[in-house]
Amino acid sequence: MKKMEQAAQLIAQNNSLFCCPICHGEVRVEKTSVICTSQHQFDLAKKGYINFYTKSSPKDYDKQLFEARYQVIQSGMYDDVHQKIAEIIDKLDYPVANILDLGCGEGSHLQKITQQLNRSSTGIGMDIAKDGILTAAKYHQGLIWTVADLAQSPFQSEKFDILLNILSPANYQEFKRLLHTDGHLIKVVPRSNYLQEIREQVMEEKQQSYTNAEVLEHFKQHFDNLEIHTIQYQWKVPEDVLKDLWFMTPLTWRKEMEQPIERITIDLDIIIAQK
Ligand SMILES: C[S@@+](CC[C@H](N)C(=O)[O-])C[C@H]1O[C@@H](n2cnc3c(N)ncnc32)[C@H](O)[C@@H]1O
Ligand SMILES: [Zn+2]
Repeated sequence: MKKMEQAAQLIAQNNSLFCCPICHGEVRVEKTSVICTSQHQFDLAKKGYINFYTKSSPKDYDKQLFEARYQVIQSGMYDDVHQKIAEIIDKLDYPVANILDLGCGEGSHLQKITQQLNRSSTGIGMDIAKDGILTAAKYHQGLIWTVADLAQSPFQSEKFDILLNILSPANYQEFKRLLHTDGHLIKVVPRSNYLQEIREQVMEEKQQSYTNAEVLEHFKQHFDNLEIHTIQYQWKVPEDVLKDLWFMTPLTWRKEMEQPIERITIDLDIIIAQK
């Protein structure tokens, strides 16, 4: 089956999760489009994703960055993070039928997490960057890939068991709307030493320090009952992904690597919350 037909089939099977991002009406799949009750139409792409975003994507993250992220994530840089998140999901005491990754980029986090789960689930990835979703649809089968804006998302209210939001901007009002009563939000945020070996090479010393206190504060204003798991380790960088490591972040834009990085620091908080 062609990628576009596969995507159409997956969306049709799960169409109760989707709504029109313009009028919030129900949608149905018709051949190669998703159409709402007011006839707003969104086309499936041959490459196997659906575009719900009617403007042109912002250019902060481009194809090269998403390809680099794909290589690095597939090489295992975040494996411990994926394992921890899969463990958290597997321990939940309700059936997890669906998982939505908001700001999924090139999709490897969603792919690796859903693959490790002891239960099967429908995985949907959403990102405003078309290049991210193109890369996701290129590499990962069996998941639904959507271009959309978190501020105008194409999903029904209170349908999602798990929301992932990994190293991406949040929209807490929207997260609350999307989560069903028992659902969990799992957000990953950087801590002060995250990617410090890169930051040391590209930033002035005084810019290098970072704290996620403000992000946590903002989170707590919307979700008060939260649990935090801190994950810290140094990942040995395989020589063949060193270049990709450098290009996986906009921090290094137009800058040369001054010295090779042997080990890179992962220092992250995984925050879990319910409505
Ligand atoms: C640092 S990247 C992280 C991507 C991916 N989660 C990862 O860790 O590889 C941040 C992502 O958030 C996406 N993003 C930013 N604003 C967004 C919005 N309003 N709606 C959806 N995605 C957004 C960007 O396009 C980008 O892919
Ligand atoms: Zn509509």
